[in-house]
Amino acid sequence: MNAQKTTPTAVILAAGLGTRMKSDRVKVLHPLLGRPMITFPIELARSIGTEKIVLVVGHQADAVRKRLAESDDLAYALQKEQLGTGHAVQQAVLHLEGSSGPVLILCGDVPLSKGETIREVLLHHEERGAVVTLLTTCVDAPAGYCRIVRSPSGNILKIVEDKDATDAEREITEINTGIYCFDSEFLRTAVASLSNRNAQKEYYLTDLVEIARMEQKRVEGVLCPDPQEVMGINSRDQLAVAAAVLRKRVNLHHMREGVTLIDPDRTYIGLDVEIGRDSVIYPDCYLEGKTTIGEQTLIGPNTRIIDTLIGRNVEIRGFCHLVEAKIADHVILGPFSHLRPGAKIGSSAHIGNFVEVKNSTIGEGSKVNHLSYIGDTEMGAGVNIGAGTITCNYDGAFKHKTIIGDRVFVGSDTQFIAPVSIGDRALIGAGSTITRDVPENSLALSRTEQKVINEGAKKIRERLQKKKK
Ligand code: UD1
Ligand code: MG
Repeated sequence: MNAQKTTPTAVILAAGLGTRMKSDRVKVLHPLLGRPMITFPIELARSIGTEKIVLVVGHQADAVRKRLAESDDLAYALQKEQLGTGHAVQQAVLHLEGSSGPVLILCGDVPLSKGETIREVLLHHEERGAVVTLLTTCVDAPAGYCRIVRSPSGNILKIVEDKDATDAEREITEINTGIYCFDSEFLRTAVASLSNRNAQKEYYLTDLVEIARMEQKRVEGVLCPDPQEVMGINSRDQLAVAAAVLRKRVNLHHMREGVTLIDPDRTYIGLDVEIGRDSVIYPDCYLEGKTTIGEQTLIGPNTRIIDTLIGRNVEIRGFCHLVEAKIADHVILGPFSHLRPGAKIGSSAHIGNFVEVKNSTIGEGSKVNHLSYIGDTEMGAGVNIGAGTITCNYDGAFKHKTIIGDRVFVGSDTQFIAPVSIGDRALIGAGSTITRDVPENSLALSRTEQKVINEGAKKIRERLQKKKK
C-alpha cells in the first residue's frame, strides 16, 4: 500500500447528548470495555498519525474534558447549541487554520472503526484528488439512515437524510457512516455556506456533497464491507452489541497470543489487560483495568480482577475478587479470596477461602488458608496462620499495624490487637487475644483456664427436665 503524503487533522463530533441512551451521562462518556466511548475515535485518529484532533463538545462539555487526559494534540471546540453536524464542523473550523492536510471527520459515537479502513479512505482521497471522500456501507434494513444517492454510472450525487428522502431513495441500501475525509480548503469555505432548509431545520454536513458536485469538484466513496465496524451507538442495546464486538476482538487477540479461554463468549477482558502465554482463563471472569497476568497462570471461574499484577504459574481457584493487588509467582489463591488495595502476596504463598487481605505484605511461602482478615500487616516468610485469625487494625479512630516475623505459627482463632509485633519463630496458642509484643522464639497464650465439672452436663439436663414438668 502507498503511504499517505500529508498529515491529516481529525475533527470528532461529540456535542450531542444522546437522548436515546435515556441517561444523565452524556453518550460519549458511556464506557465500552471500561473506557469511555469517546476515547475510541480519539485513539483511532492517533493511530493513523493525525497532527491534531479537534473535539467538538457541547452537552456536558466540562465532564468530557475532565474525563480525557490533557494532551498537546487535543483541542476543544464548543458547540453551545446542537444545530446539526454541519454546524458542529463550523465550530471546529477556527482550529483548522494552518493545517493544510486533509480533514478527517469522525463521530464520537462510532467506536468500532479500524485504522486500516480509515487509512484506505485517506489514501483513496489523495489518489483521486477528491474534495470529499465518504466512507459508506450497505445494510439490510436502511430505515432511519442517510442514503447515498448515486448516478447510473456510480458517481455519488448527494446524501439524503431519511426524513428528507423520497420513496425511491428510501429503497437504497448504501448508507452514510458519518466518517469523511475533506480537502481542508474546500471544507472551510463550503461549511460556511450551509443552510438549514430541511425537514429537521439543521445544518447538515452531508449537504457538502451536493455543494462539491455543483462546483464540479470530485466526490468519492469508499465502501466499508463490514457495517458493524461503522455502527453508531444511539441506545443501550447498541452499546451492548458494540461491547460484544469489541470483546470478541480482544479475546481473539489473546487466544492468538497463546492464552486459553475456556469459553470466550463468557470471558470479559479489558483493553489494557496483558496475559502471558499458556495461561488459562475459566468462564465468567472479568479482567479489568491495568491488570497483568504472567505465563502459565490459571484463573478459575467467576473471578473479578481489577488493576492487579499477577505473576507466573499462579493458581487462582475461582470466585475471587482482587483489586489493586500484587501476586508473585507460584501463589495459590482461593476459592473465595478477597484481595483489596495494597495486598502483596509473596511467591509460593497460599491464601485460602474466605480470607480478606488489605494493605498487607504476605511473605514467601506463608499460608493464610481459612476465614481470616489480614489488614495493615507485614508478615514474614514461612508463617502459618490458623483458621479464623484476625488482625484488629482499627480502634474506631486510627489504623494500626501488625508485624509478624518469619516462621511464626499462629493457632486458630487468634486476634492481634494492633499495634503489635511478633518476633521470628514465635508460637501463638489457638484462641489467643494478643495485646502485647511477643519476642522471637517465645510462646504466647491468652486463654482462660479450662474447667471440667464431672457429671455437670447430666446434672443440668436433669434440672431442666424437672422445670419442664
Ligand atoms: C449523522 C449524519 C448521517 C450519518 C450519521 C452517522 C448528517 C446530517 N447526518 O446522522 O448521515 O449516517 O450521523 O452516525 O450529518 N453532533 C454534534 N452536533 C450536532 C449534531 C450532531 O456534535 O449539532 C454529533 C453527535 O454528538 C454525534 C454525531 O455528531 O456524535 C452524529 O450525530 P447524530 O445526531 O447521532 O447523527 P444523525 O443526525 O443521526
Ligand atoms: Mg441527529
